[in-house]
Amino acid sequence: MAGTWIYYLHAIALLLIAVTAETPEQYHVSMDEDSNYRMHWSFNNQDKIMQFTVEVKTTGWIGFGISPYTGQMPGSDVVIGWVDSNGKAYLQDRFANGRTLPALDDNQDYKLISGIEKNGMTTLKFSRKFNTEDPKDLPLEGGTTRLIWAYNNNDPPSQTNIPMHHKMGSRSVNLFNAMPEIDKPKLPDDTKTYDCLAPNVTVPSKHTSYWCVGLKLPQVTEKHHIIKLDPVITKGNEGVVHHMTLFECESDPKWHGYAAECDSQNMPNHLRNCRSGSAMAGWAVGGESITFPAKAGFPIGGKNNPKFAVIEMHYDNPEGKSNIVDSSGYKIYYTKQLRPNDIGVLIMGHLVSPFLIVPNNQMQWNITGYCSGECTSMIFPKNGINIFALFFHTHLAGVALDSRQFRNGKELPLVAENKHYDFNYQELYYMKDEVNMMPGDTMSVTCVYKTKNRTKLTLGGLSTKEEMCLNYVFYYPKIDLSACSTQPAYEALGPYLAKLWRKGILPIPSQNGSAGLYESLGAASLDDPKLIQELANVQTYPPPAMYCAYGNRTMLFDRFGVRMANFKSVANYTMENTTNGGFSISTFSSVMTLAHIVVAFYYLS
Ligand SMILES: *[C@@H]1O[C@H](CO)[C@@H](O)[C@H](O)[C@H]1NC(C)=O
Ligand SMILES: *[C@@H]1O[C@H](CO)[C@@H](O)[C@H](O)[C@H]1NC(C)=O
Ligand SMILES: *[C@@H]1O[C@H](CO)[C@@H](O)[C@H](O)[C@H]1NC(C)=O
Ligand SMILES: *[C@@H]1O[C@H](CO)[C@@H](O)[C@H](O)[C@H]1NC(C)=O
Ligand SMILES: *[C@@H]1O[C@H](CO)[C@@H](O)[C@H](O)[C@H]1NC(C)=O
Ligand SMILES: *[C@@H]1O[C@H](CO)[C@@H](O)[C@H](O)[C@H]1NC(C)=O
Repeated sequence: MAGTWIYYLHAIALLLIAVTAETPEQYHVSMDEDSNYRMHWSFNNQDKIMQFTVEVKTTGWIGFGISPYTGQMPGSDVVIGWVDSNGKAYLQDRFANGRTLPALDDNQDYKLISGIEKNGMTTLKFSRKFNTEDPKDLPLEGGTTRLIWAYNNNDPPSQTNIPMHHKMGSRSVNLFNAMPEIDKPKLPDDTKTYDCLAPNVTVPSKHTSYWCVGLKLPQVTEKHHIIKLDPVITKGNEGVVHHMTLFECESDPKWHGYAAECDSQNMPNHLRNCRSGSAMAGWAVGGESITFPAKAGFPIGGKNNPKFAVIEMHYDNPEGKSNIVDSSGYKIYYTKQLRPNDIGVLIMGHLVSPFLIVPNNQMQWNITGYCSGECTSMIFPKNGINIFALFFHTHLAGVALDSRQFRNGKELPLVAENKHYDFNYQELYYMKDEVNMMPGDTMSVTCVYKTKNRTKLTLGGLSTKEEMCLNYVFYYPKIDLSACSTQPAYEALGPYLAKLWRKGILPIPSQNGSAGLYESLGAASLDDPKLIQELANVQTYPPPAMYCAYGNRTMLFDRFGVRMANFKSVANYTMENTTNGGFSISTFSSVMTLAHIVVAFYYLS
């Protein structure tokens, strides 16, 4: 008898060890606004196993799934589980063919670990491989994962008869690139907070507006580090504040509190220019706090550190309401307990300009910008910079992005990618391992756009209907560089556009320079497959023009005047086995037309 007891105790002890040895969940998120559905997860990179825990205020069944792109049910990889009145837990691996009960998979790849129902809450813990190889499951990948969730207040009558959900929704999450709870440093006791808000802005009664406000940063004489930033969104305006970016700026107290539409004429040059400087923080719908890693902080106070900032608010007001007042912004946490390194933010990618052209009606159109080896070799320190996080940014047509690193003509491991970019969910992407970028290294940013429903060209620009292709890179130690990007060289794109003007595809604009380009290109569409391919070649293969700017936005070398030397396009690396129509820069005529001059004037202004 005693022996049996010892046996039981032993078994219980083993069970306890097994339970406590489970990886504690590192990441947490609410799937719904009311926090009735919480999700926790953690993963093991060695075994390539992801573990989920869903915790839901229900005593009925719970659904959880991975959606291909849209956050909708069709095509989703789904599990349904519950705990019955005897305490027995169930989990079923299913696949949603449509908006009906998802069919049971032949291979049950999700493994139930535990299921508990207590105090009106059901908690299911389960795991799966990153890639199960089952066509009825979706692989778990870096970047955005679009999750769907559902629940019903009752258990299903049987394992095959599962009535419809009572509540459902979707949410995007960075499964692999969130900051783990254990890596979030404790705030030191002397931490102070400071609200950096765009106060009492009457949101313009138009669909999209960018509002810029000059603000003092915490006015400290001694050097401090900003270690965390919380988004502060005015209650009720969650659907209006679309994104916000904080740019550091040269101090000029007279502009404190000055507010205007960013592109308006009465915007003082001083503030206007700040917007092309170093970003300090970026937040967009769905984003959470920005926490900096323990070894680095964002410097303020002391010599040469920013004392002033401009906050750019992007408001979305599709119904054109005129009575919305907003005071959103950031809450800044700062401390005198300095960390070993200063953080800098570098803008990489394609210049925001009308030279970023995406034709209408494309399933997939790639735009690539580069932070060139020329630029990095001029200003990077001997040991390079260490990238710990980044923030990819495109507008509505963006579907995927990646960043690649090149050294001595060879590609290094992929820096970051997001195959399921979600405009409504842009959060800091923490690197699994920091990336060291050395002087002379080149880094690319490729953005994939889908313009299937568009009938006109899409151009680079500030509004959400225009496009951007940017990567805000967060790194240490801080250097005096704000932007490192490219756009197609004038010698390549100018003659191509001139040809379109001659063919009558582009209307002749009424003005020179950038406004003329927007006017003409914005009104045009491109349907001839040969001309479309030619545009792709012009954007992809000729050495692009570099834009490499100090913190004060002075160029390290002549603006647009210098092309990347020894240039090898990302496409040459990624499509080594395909042919591309033998592009050569000399195939362009150099006939000057009025239109050509318009481009030249844009380029030189
Ligand atoms: C907005 O204006 C009100 C009334 O003038 C004022 O009390 C409040 O402090 C302002 N809010 C902010 C964030 O400045
Ligand atoms: C576009 O970019 C994606 C991501 O880098 C890549 O997989 C794809 O091959 C590229 N397509 C073309 C046509 O270059
Ligand atoms: C494109 O247009 C179709 C038909 O009007 C519509 O069903 C679909 O939702 C649109 N897609 C996007 C991405 O807007
Ligand atoms: C553009 O500039 C050129 C050169 O100064 C000038 O000849 C031309 O008239 C200008 N075009 C327009 C539309 O202003
Ligand atoms: C901008 O910064 C660079 C590098 O520190 C410096 O050489 C240059 O004089 C500055 N330009 C202006 C206009 O302040
Ligand atoms: C890249 O590919 C293009 C198109 O195939 C070709 O013209 C060019 O020579 C290639 N460049 C290099 C550096 O291989």
